Amino acid sequence: MQKRKMKELNPWEVGEIKDYGKLIKEFGMKPMDDYRIKYDDLLYIRRGIIFGHRDFNLIDEAIEKKKPYALMTGLMPSGAFHFGHKMVADEIKYFQDNGAQIFICAADIESYLMRGIPLDVARKTAVEDYLTNYLALGINPENLTFWFQSDYRTEYYRMRDLLSKRPTFNELKAIYGELSTGKIISALTQAADILHPQLKELGGKKPVIVPVGADQDPHIRLTRDIASRETEYDIIPPAATYHKFMGGLQGGKMSSSDPKSHISLLEEPKKAIKKVMGAKTGGRESAEVQRKKGGRPDQCMIYELCLYHLVPDDIELARIHAECVSGATLCGDCKKRCAGFLTTFLEEHQKKVAQARKTAEKIAKKKT
Ligand code: TRP
Ligand code: SF4
Repeated sequence: MQKRKMKELNPWEVGEIKDYGKLIKEFGMKPMDDYRIKYDDLLYIRRGIIFGHRDFNLIDEAIEKKKPYALMTGLMPSGAFHFGHKMVADEIKYFQDNGAQIFICAADIESYLMRGIPLDVARKTAVEDYLTNYLALGINPENLTFWFQSDYRTEYYRMRDLLSKRPTFNELKAIYGELSTGKIISALTQAADILHPQLKELGGKKPVIVPVGADQDPHIRLTRDIASRETEYDIIPPAATYHKFMGGLQGGKMSSSDPKSHISLLEEPKKAIKKVMGAKTGGRESAEVQRKKGGRPDQCMIYELCLYHLVPDDIELARIHAECVSGATLCGDCKKRCAGFLTTFLEEHQKKVAQARKTAEKIAKKKT
């Protein structure tokens, strides 16, 4: 039974996650509620989109006492950089602004082993889509270590190899279900990604926060378990925050390989508007019914875009919500308003992208 449930959260086969409360009950995450007020300047925490954490208290303490801590995260360079990915970028920026030393890895070994993406293609995507957008979204290149899993420092590879002594084959099976050589290497590489900021060479033991989507929790659990049993290295288990997933524009899952399901941050605004106008809403079968019963923002992709990204002002968002549920605004007008917000966002963002491109190239060439 336990095994089957674990497999529902397999990072390489994740579908939609409907019940986030269950993740908290069954996998021992902690709800983020205690920190919602203190960290309410991060929209995702304030609005409950970051719903769970592990050991966030360590990060809270480091921020409060101005002690050194790091943020580490990785990106799988496959497909376009979309609004789902923007969440991680905003989280990185937030903690960087709050004193974290930043480590970002391009998981090109993982994307090769798990998705068959050639290393040169992955490298291009990682730099031109991901890193460029990260910088355009405000991440400061000065306090940033960026690397490719396929091309990094010796101590990192040594750490990955030595860490492999900790988990047993059966533990890996319990976490990932059916194993393959590629899954094992990807999981151990990810453990090294997360733990190596604590190497002596990189400033030694410290709290590290890993902001991820809920699907990555199996990796976090494995890494925490390895860290707690490690004897060769003086390290502590990483902390993590977990965010909910945005749904796809047509309903179902948002996926970087399906352009109809997402809007890329580099998308031409005109095309993006078309996608908004065709998105799944929580509207009723007719205008008349909607005026009477109101719309359903909780089932609406337009509302979700506003909630996660386009309407940072809580009062304005509350108004959009109220106008929807009362039936005062119908979906056609509501979509147009959303399209306006989106156009403004994309135009402003894309202006910053041109400058960010050059910096991204420079960072990618630098030997880490
Ligand atoms: N596995 C992650 C993904 O699928 C990418 C990743 C690699 C990562 N190393 C990491 C995420 C370290 C967080 C921390 O997107
Ligand atoms: Fe969604 Fe707006 Fe329609 Fe409500 S009125 S269901 S928020 S598109």
